[in-house]
Amino acid sequence: MGILQNLLFTICIALRCVTSAVGVIHVTGYVGREVNVSCSYDEGYESYEKYLCKNDCGDSDVLVTTSESRKNKYRIHDDKTARIFTTTISDLHSEDAGKYWCGVTRNGKDIYTEVELKLAQDSCCDTVTKIESYEGFSESIVCPYESRYQNNPKYICRGNRPSTCRQQALITSDNKQNGRFRLDDDKLLGTFTVNISSLTKNDSGSYLCGVQRNSDLDVFSAVELKVKEWCCVKSKTASGTAGYPLTFQCPYPSQHYDNSKFLCKGDHRNNCTNVTSQSRFTVQDDGFSHFFLVIIAELETADAGTYWCGSDSQWRVENYTKVELSVEAVHYAVYAVVPVVLLICVLVIIYKYKCYNVRETEAVMDRNTPKAEDVIDAEEGEIYGNQEFVLTFKQQSALNHFDDPVGDEPDYKNFTTEELYSNENYHKANKR
Ligand SMILES: *[C@@H]1O[C@H](CO)[C@@H](O)[C@H](O)[C@H]1NC(C)=O
Ligand SMILES: *[C@@H]1O[C@H](CO)[C@@H](O)[C@H](O)[C@H]1NC(C)=O
Ligand SMILES: *[C@@H]1O[C@H](CO)[C@@H](O)[C@H](O)[C@H]1NC(C)=O
Ligand SMILES: *[C@@H]1O[C@H](CO)[C@@H](O)[C@H](O)[C@H]1NC(C)=O
Ligand SMILES: *[C@@H]1O[C@H](CO)[C@@H](O)[C@H](O)[C@H]1NC(C)=O
Ligand SMILES: *[C@@H]1O[C@H](CO)[C@@H](O)[C@H](O)[C@H]1NC(C)=O
Repeated sequence: MGILQNLLFTICIALRCVTSAVGVIHVTGYVGREVNVSCSYDEGYESYEKYLCKNDCGDSDVLVTTSESRKNKYRIHDDKTARIFTTTISDLHSEDAGKYWCGVTRNGKDIYTEVELKLAQDSCCDTVTKIESYEGFSESIVCPYESRYQNNPKYICRGNRPSTCRQQALITSDNKQNGRFRLDDDKLLGTFTVNISSLTKNDSGSYLCGVQRNSDLDVFSAVELKVKEWCCVKSKTASGTAGYPLTFQCPYPSQHYDNSKFLCKGDHRNNCTNVTSQSRFTVQDDGFSHFFLVIIAELETADAGTYWCGSDSQWRVENYTKVELSVEAVHYAVYAVVPVVLLICVLVIIYKYKCYNVRETEAVMDRNTPKAEDVIDAEEGEIYGNQEFVLTFKQQSALNHFDDPVGDEPDYKNFTTEELYSNENYHKANKR
């Protein structure tokens, strides 16, 4: 059972091989995974039988031989060109840890080399660094390492399984950039940094920072990334009719009175387009109302969609408002029907006026022509159902008193209250 000095033994841990001049070779595997035990042999022994055995290496202790290359959870492969035979032990359990022997069968005494198998848990780590970020942002995961690993390859993977981390690496120090991932290794500082851009909620979860080692298991540190939704203050709806003006409010916190206000359109706030450059859109802010007004001069059906407004164009994590705008097309049939109905009404009234006395006629008139105030109340409640959001008749009147230092908003100034009013009345007619 002595160790022959003229034999060199090679052992593979994971995919790496190391030549050991000393007698005992140390191998580490992960519980539940497999491990490769590779032993090299001298020239001349290519055709000899090789085997792996345990304990005292008696006949019953032989686990697998090249004569029967697959037995239970052991597989053996003899690479005669490289003169290395490799035994794979799969489904490792804690009782698999311990002493093994690599053997070469020959006349007289076999050639043996001692192998020590250690097991590690396939999970990591006791301490986890927690990072929080937001959808659409970029975030850097900083992975510190010991200075002696300066020149070792670095990588990062998802999950917390050390055994599969390197195979499933999102990015390694060999390729600095891979899609949304970038890896920078600061060897002086002893940290490598993985920058993930355009974060989505799907990026939330566990990550392992790995440092590849040559003769032992890789070293890991664990990170937990949480990608949060860039939360909205409010989500609102607005509706209008094509061809008519529409105004809605975008609230902002009072401390933002001095910030530039923005409005953009698109399904996703990351890549929505600035619409304020279109002349039909006007943003009006008096700096003290805690909301700014968005005035669309003449709605088009194509204006329907999702709008985002806020008071920080840097898209930092601040309050913002999402607006779902729907636009009703103009139904020309209504234009035809309304005058006809009005005409019939007038004829009926004239007819009744002729048939009944004056007192009765007054009563009819009262029912059919509501006072202006009644109409406004009805609009606020019934038509939009979202009172604070819609500029009412009253608010619009007040706006006309706003100072307009630039004086370049003819679109807005030209909206008479009657026009807004008629748009809203139109809705009312349409709803019926
Ligand atoms: C063991 O070696 C085989 C064949 O080279 C390889 O496919 C497998 O990935 C290795 N397993 C481990 C855990 O390194
Ligand atoms: C990540 O990389 C992008 C692009 O190079 C950069 O703009 C961003 O500031 C970086 N993020 C962090 C958190 O370092
Ligand atoms: C989320 O990420 C996983 C990988 O972590 C990927 O397999 C999956 O397709 C992603 N899902 C979406 C909706 O992007
Ligand atoms: C806008 O961003 C979202 C999510 O980031 C993406 O799904 C969509 O394809 C993007 N649209 C365009 C036009 O780039
Ligand atoms: C949007 O466009 C307008 C007009 O071109 C410009 O004044 C404003 O700064 C732009 N807003 C953003 C957030 O880019
Ligand atoms: C967001 O909105 C809430 C409620 O409207 C307000 O209390 C808070 O100050 C706002 N946050 C920021 C950063 O403006």
